[in-house]
Amino acid sequence: EQTLGELAAASGLLFGCAVSSDHLSNDPSFAALVSRETSILVAEWEMKRAAVQRLEGVWDFSGGDAIAAFAARNGQKLRGHALVWHYEGPDWLKQRLAEAPDERLLTDMITRSCLHYRGQIHSWDVVNEVVDPAEGQADGLRVSSHWYRAFGEGYLETAFHAARASDPDALLFYGDYGVEMDHPDHEKKRVAVLKVIEKLKKQGAPIDGFGVQGHLDPFRTRFDERIYARFLWELQGFGLKLMVTEFDVADRFGPADVVKRDAEIAAVAGRFAEVSLANPAMIGFLAWGLTDRYSWLADYPDYKWPDGQRPRGLPYDADLRPKPMRAALAAAF
Ligand code: XIL
Repeated sequence: EQTLGELAAASGLLFGCAVSSDHLSNDPSFAALVSRETSILVAEWEMKRAAVQRLEGVWDFSGGDAIAAFAARNGQKLRGHALVWHYEGPDWLKQRLAEAPDERLLTDMITRSCLHYRGQIHSWDVVNEVVDPAEGQADGLRVSSHWYRAFGEGYLETAFHAARASDPDALLFYGDYGVEMDHPDHEKKRVAVLKVIEKLKKQGAPIDGFGVQGHLDPFRTRFDERIYARFLWELQGFGLKLMVTEFDVADRFGPADVVKRDAEIAAVAGRFAEVSLANPAMIGFLAWGLTDRYSWLADYPDYKWPDGQRPRGLPYDADLRPKPMRAALAAAF
């Protein structure tokens, strides 16, 4: 049987997942599954600033290095995630920015990371989750972000230029969530995302792509092929490459019956993947994990699943057995 990576490759696409170095080195059966099924990896946490610079003045690339080494050993590509994000501080950085907004606090992370991993990165998420239209300001930009507060909108352009200067070969991406579904909030996000991209393009910022995170929530919001396809079409109209970067299916409001739930999850996953791949600008599809053994959704403090179950939003179950979602993705690829 062909692996998801092989099937994707036959369609000219990369398939991959988010991983942690801890799981890769301490869970051999998981590591074997990852190396077999995927052609690109991304660090779930270890290349973010909260990991790389947990303390001021300390730069620690060890986690990302371990993932990069695993990928290199297995002939997989690597995504970088994420250089500029409003979430996960770290606190010392927010404090410095509030005291004195020195632009080096923005660019040092970008420059160091891009130089450190130069030659190894397929694509960088340069800026992540930068719009929040619910805040109601600045064309939907996330104005509460410490980056916006310190530098205003210009931080976006600065970030892309800094990344290009330090790694001219990596594709430079902006990624965001909440843009996939038929829902008024998602519609506002789509409008805001397109606006930011339009402005960045006008400024001549070196942005190469948009990453659709793809955290679907189909048991509360509806997935509509035409709405999603049109959004991808509009993104592609800016000359951008596209990737699905963090796919999973939130299932806590789905049917309690596992067989039924798995079937519904697989159906929406298949439809989502089909529309994603139908756009000629789509170059990769990554899930936010590969197996339900390790899913970030399980760590949400207040999330509860039917009958005390666990999330089933990824292609393989907690025993590393393929689920219907795996078959649905394989069919779509
Ligand atoms: C999440 C990780 O899965 C968690 O382990 C971490 O603590 C917080 O971040 N959008 C993103 C990802 O861009 O970086 C987030 O990952 C999930 C939502």
